[in-house]
Amino acid sequence: MPPTPTNKTNSLLLNITFALSCGAILFFLFNAPGETTAKLPMNADHSRFQDMKKKEAEKYCTECHSPEGVHPLPEGHPPKYRCLFCHKRD
Ligand code: HEC
Ligand code: HEC
Repeated sequence: MPPTPTNKTNSLLLNITFALSCGAILFFLFNAPGETTAKLPMNADHSRFQDMKKKEAEKYCTECHSPEGVHPLPEGHPPKYRCLFCHKRD
């Protein structure tokens, strides 16, 4: 039995929906933010952490980056368990 007109309309609609979803996904991917989180600085305070195991290095971060430290974390800082997962090293 040949497809009825309603079937044709349906598949056209499906095709359009499919095309639109693909477009939306591509649009989303191309607009995703890059890696903008500040990297671990390359200076005297931080150079010793470059070659340390991440977990080992992270024990020392809060000596300075805490409310009592020399450089407290900014207000609204995201959850901070693993510093170096977000703040990459060079
Ligand atoms: C001895 C103190 C000290 C320790 C330990 C320390 N920091 Fe810092 N950190 C600073 C100071 C001071 C600044 C601000 C000036 C600068 O950029 O160096 C800073 C700045 C930063 C910044 C901001 C860089 C930017 O571009 O704005 C990040 C990210 C950072 N530290 C991450 C870390 C991480 C992760 C650790 C642990 C592995 C760590 N720090 C350990 C003192 C320290
Ligand atoms: C889930 C991801 C994440 C984790 C984990 C994390 N941070 Fe951050 N951190 C950020 C973001 C996002 C900012 C906002 C500013 C930016 O883009 O760097 C920030 C900002 C900072 C700043 C200020 C940067 C500046 O430009 O002044 C410092 C210092 C910092 N973090 C240190 C740390 C330390 C130390 C730890 C571990 C105790 C840590 N962060 C863990 C994501 C993270």
